[in-house]
Amino acid sequence: PWAHFKMAPPDPIIGLNEAYNSDDFPDKVNVGVGAYRCDQGMPFVLPVVMEAEKAIIAEEMDHEYSGIAGCPDFVNLALKFVYGDDCAALQEGRIAGVQTLSGTGGLRVFGETLATFGHKHIYVPDPTWGNHIPIFKNAGLEVRKYRYYDNDSCSLDFSNLIDDMRAMPEGSCILLHACAHNPTGMDPTVDQWKEISNVAMEKNLLPFFDSAYQGFASGDARKDAAAVRMFVEDGHNIAVVQSFSKNFGLYGQRIGALSVVAADPEEAKRVLSQLKVHIRPSYSNPPRHGARIVTKILSDPEKTNDFVHQCMGMAKRIDGMRYELRQALEDLGSGRSWDHVTSQIGMFAYSGLTKDQVVALREKHHIYCTLDGRISMAGVTSNNVEYIARAIHDVTGG
Ligand code: LMR
Repeated sequence: PWAHFKMAPPDPIIGLNEAYNSDDFPDKVNVGVGAYRCDQGMPFVLPVVMEAEKAIIAEEMDHEYSGIAGCPDFVNLALKFVYGDDCAALQEGRIAGVQTLSGTGGLRVFGETLATFGHKHIYVPDPTWGNHIPIFKNAGLEVRKYRYYDNDSCSLDFSNLIDDMRAMPEGSCILLHACAHNPTGMDPTVDQWKEISNVAMEKNLLPFFDSAYQGFASGDARKDAAAVRMFVEDGHNIAVVQSFSKNFGLYGQRIGALSVVAADPEEAKRVLSQLKVHIRPSYSNPPRHGARIVTKILSDPEKTNDFVHQCMGMAKRIDGMRYELRQALEDLGSGRSWDHVTSQIGMFAYSGLTKDQVVALREKHHIYCTLDGRISMAGVTSNNVEYIARAIHDVTGG
């Protein structure tokens, strides 16, 4: 029965791991998937996460099903984390929240819910995280793009972004990256966010924030949530999806949250009931472990403080590598400007390398990054930064 199944292409991001793993070159470098590495190039488990896990094991908890909406304590803490303790909408009980299978799971659940309630399309930035497009297509939405980035100046294409927003049909859902835009690392300034908020209000758009890097982008979780909080204060009934993969280093635990700001508590209850309608036939209810870890940390001020410092440590190491990579390229006498490597934030450097240059980087130098030239700075270390700079210098023609 499977004879007509054609071989599918490897995933443009996760598929790089397979290619990297089967490369036997000793100095190969994986800067494809966005997963943090310590300066020795190893996966990093936050010490506070290890402590929380030990405490969880010691409590000998059972493994009963979660509710369809996940663990309520986790959801409450996740919502406080992104909206802030003092958020009026949260205090008024008008935010519906569910635990999700990290960011991806929340995006899919909300995409399906939108499609059920009459949305035919969603706008995403051009470029955006590669997986956004199939997630929303599979949810039943047409994926439309709005201009976001200017390749020539390596900066935000703000006036075209605003023009494209003004041209969107009233009521459209617009996906926004809350901070550390993936793949460009280029975010709007506070003033630009204000203008985006104003235009979204004029056009009655539905802002949907993907928050995958809170705390991990700038090292300050409040700053990284500033756009989300501004939109709620401005009176938007936004939706937010949160991932705890990068900031808590809980990648494989698939832990995240989806929340929707409603007009009043009664509306929030109805929205929650609809999110659950989409979750139940999809995966029934979410796994427990990641929720327990985040709950242990965010319910304890001392552990939260440790988390803040350890998360900031990751952000700082990445930032340091940005400067080292740029410096190494300049020291090699590169004829190009690499200023954007240090002006971008978050996990990635959107290098500006062409597809051919990326392929040359892979084939000649065994360095694996995505075809759009996105380099995961989390995979750059003191040991490989020089090698990466030389290889980039080589493929960009010096
Ligand atoms: C990435 O963009 O590399 C990460 O968000 C991992 C993923 O799932 O693609």
